Amino acid sequence: MIREIIVYPDKRLKQVSKEVKLFDQNLHTLLDDMYETMVAKNGVGLASIQIAVPKQVLIINMPIDIDDNEERDQPKENTLEMINPIIVDKSGSEIHQEGCLSVPKVYEDIERFKYIKVEFFNRYGEKETIETDEFLAVAIQHEMEHLEGKLFIENFSYIKRKKFEKEWKKRQRDK
Ligand code: CO
Repeated sequence: MIREIIVYPDKRLKQVSKEVKLFDQNLHTLLDDMYETMVAKNGVGLASIQIAVPKQVLIINMPIDIDDNEERDQPKENTLEMINPIIVDKSGSEIHQEGCLSVPKVYEDIERFKYIKVEFFNRYGEKETIETDEFLAVAIQHEMEHLEGKLFIENFSYIKRKKFEKEWKKRQRDK
């Protein structure tokens, strides 16, 4: 089921997400709904707080090219599902352009760790570890920030943030 994505400045996005204790059917339904919602909005990642569920749950699915016509696909089996993730190692830094389904049509360069090692649980409650220094590392750090009740715009410089707020207000007015 496609759920509604809540958008800045909705205060619910500021909630700190709670640890998942039960790896039950409710969790599986949440994960399946998150996948449907993310794909419907052409996103590559989604944290459950973005559909107003403050749990430490996030998904990432990097689109793959399926032909030479820039046709892209995000098969469900490629979805990385991370529950209660913790960064246990990190190094370096890199700047990438990021966007967020809760701050639509805003893209900005953000600095993140280049390499991260993350421990998490899959939907069955099994512990897994992932290490990456690819774009996936950026996506994981972006989504994990949501679990702390933060948005990527909070990493903007003072000037960029002011500009963003002005343009955002104007956009809300023009709607
Ligand atoms: Co986001």
